[in-house]
Amino acid sequence: MMTTQIFPSLLAADFARLADEAAVVADVADWLHVDVMDAHFVPNLTIGLPVVSALLKYATLPLDCHLMISDPDRWAPDYARAGAQNVTIHAEAATAPVRTLRSIRAAGARAGLAINPATPVEPYGDLLPEIDMLLVMTIEPGFGGQPFLDVTLPKIARARELIARHGGEVWLQVDGGVSEETIGRCAEAGADVFVAGTAVFGAQDPAAAVRHLRSTADAASRLPSAGHGRQ
Ligand code: DX5
Ligand code: ZN
Repeated sequence: MMTTQIFPSLLAADFARLADEAAVVADVADWLHVDVMDAHFVPNLTIGLPVVSALLKYATLPLDCHLMISDPDRWAPDYARAGAQNVTIHAEAATAPVRTLRSIRAAGARAGLAINPATPVEPYGDLLPEIDMLLVMTIEPGFGGQPFLDVTLPKIARARELIARHGGEVWLQVDGGVSEETIGRCAEAGADVFVAGTAVFGAQDPAAAVRHLRSTADAASRLPSAGHGRQ
């Protein structure tokens, strides 16, 4: 059973008012997406463990920490121990992904694995039992507000097939350039978890934007073309 979930990305929110921005979408969104960048794995620098720990005290929604850092093996378990409800590491950065994913779960969080646009999904099929969410990046990571990369759509569909074959409850997340204009294509391809930064916090009414994104995704995922072995 697939359920559409909308994860607003705080990267597009006002960083000086994170708790207030989290509250704006608290009644309509499913989780909050937090982008951790280290200026090494990606060219940008955002926030780290101290800010995530502080935000956990105020946010009523669970936090989805997307670690765009060079040494996720060192840091990911600490985010889980701090109370983040999901911690996602990048396949391109992890040197011991199985061990790190298991440490995340052992600390009580859900474990996510992310792949960049040019990283194939097939080599990670065997890791599906180790994860709760697969993130197919739909932009090159590092900055919000970039245009959606259509070239990733066939990979989203192949990821959905791998998950269906695996049979487990692995969420399929897309992140980057997700908007009213692109979310339908992602849902049709088989994504069920949608990160949106600019499309939510750049909108006049972020809560209304979340509601619209959800209904557009729901409508698209019900299209007959959105088969991919799902119910
Ligand atoms: C970028 C981040 C995204 C970012 C997406 O590397 O991973 O989560 O917030 O922003 P938009 O939705 O504006 O493309
Ligand atoms: Zn992200």
